[in-house]
Amino acid sequence: MAIRVGPTRHALEDLELRLLLEGIYQHYGYDFREYARASLRRRVWRRLLEEGLETISALQDRLLHDPQCFERLLVDLSVTVTTMFRDPSFYQALREKVVPLLRTYPFVRVWNAGCSTGEETFSLAILLHEEGLGERARIYATDINDVVVRQAKLGTFSLEKMREYTQNYIRSGGKASFSDYYKVYGDKARFDPSLVDNVVFAQHNLVSDSEFNQFHLIVCRNVMIYFDRSLQDKVHDLFHRSLVRFGVLALGHKESLRFTSHTDDYEEVDGREKLWRRIS
Ligand SMILES: C[S@@+](CC[C@H](N)C(=O)[O-])C[C@H]1O[C@@H](n2cnc3c(N)ncnc32)[C@H](O)[C@@H]1O
Repeated sequence: MAIRVGPTRHALEDLELRLLLEGIYQHYGYDFREYARASLRRRVWRRLLEEGLETISALQDRLLHDPQCFERLLVDLSVTVTTMFRDPSFYQALREKVVPLLRTYPFVRVWNAGCSTGEETFSLAILLHEEGLGERARIYATDINDVVVRQAKLGTFSLEKMREYTQNYIRSGGKASFSDYYKVYGDKARFDPSLVDNVVFAQHNLVSDSEFNQFHLIVCRNVMIYFDRSLQDKVHDLFHRSLVRFGVLALGHKESLRFTSHTDDYEEVDGREKLWRRIS
């Protein structure tokens, strides 16, 4: 009997990748099926080479039987690169254009979705503190990756980053001396724990978990660049349901609300800094 030769090598690899993602979803409940393919493929390949394997199918076999291998892949798949006061002009716009809106509320709820190791959360906490909103604001800082959420809670960052972060802070319109916010322990800078007295750190998956509160500001920067269009739409549905009317959505510089199903539900607060206000 002649065996029908199936897909080309490239199509076969694509099939293996789809099966791997389906397997991960079915077995571990993590849904990467609609993440942007190019970056996902690169990361899967990096993991399989580090595991000393040759095919995605071999990686699937190992992953399904070895939860620690899955943990390693999870770290590879969640790109956690972040900095304090990343894109200073964004924080400047937040101070000048969004803080006045937040002041109109007696109590402010902020969702920092995809907070990674907490640099963004501490930046937001410092900004709110300096704008006199620290006491009446609560930040919910969430990420899919439990490891980074635990790290975020510690508020401990590498000392060698402080020069860059200080520059960012100054350029973002910081009002104090940045070094007042942390103490140095060896090669680490530990930020004042009172900054995050009003922060709730939790694991939350934007793909599979539902809304959990109504927010006046949602900051979700440099997360959706890793999602394909239909997944971005789903997350925008979630954010739309989670924002109060006139609440503000902040995205990363390379992200946009344009071409999503919610374009008309928002008005621009600052187009360059990707700040929008929900109007319907
Ligand atoms: C590149 S970091 C961005 C960190 C920070 N927002 C910033 O702009 O500096 C992307 C973060 O999104 C998180 N992430 C990826 N997929 C997610 C999901 N489905 N739900 C929640 N967080 C997710 C990753 O774990 C990672 O910490």
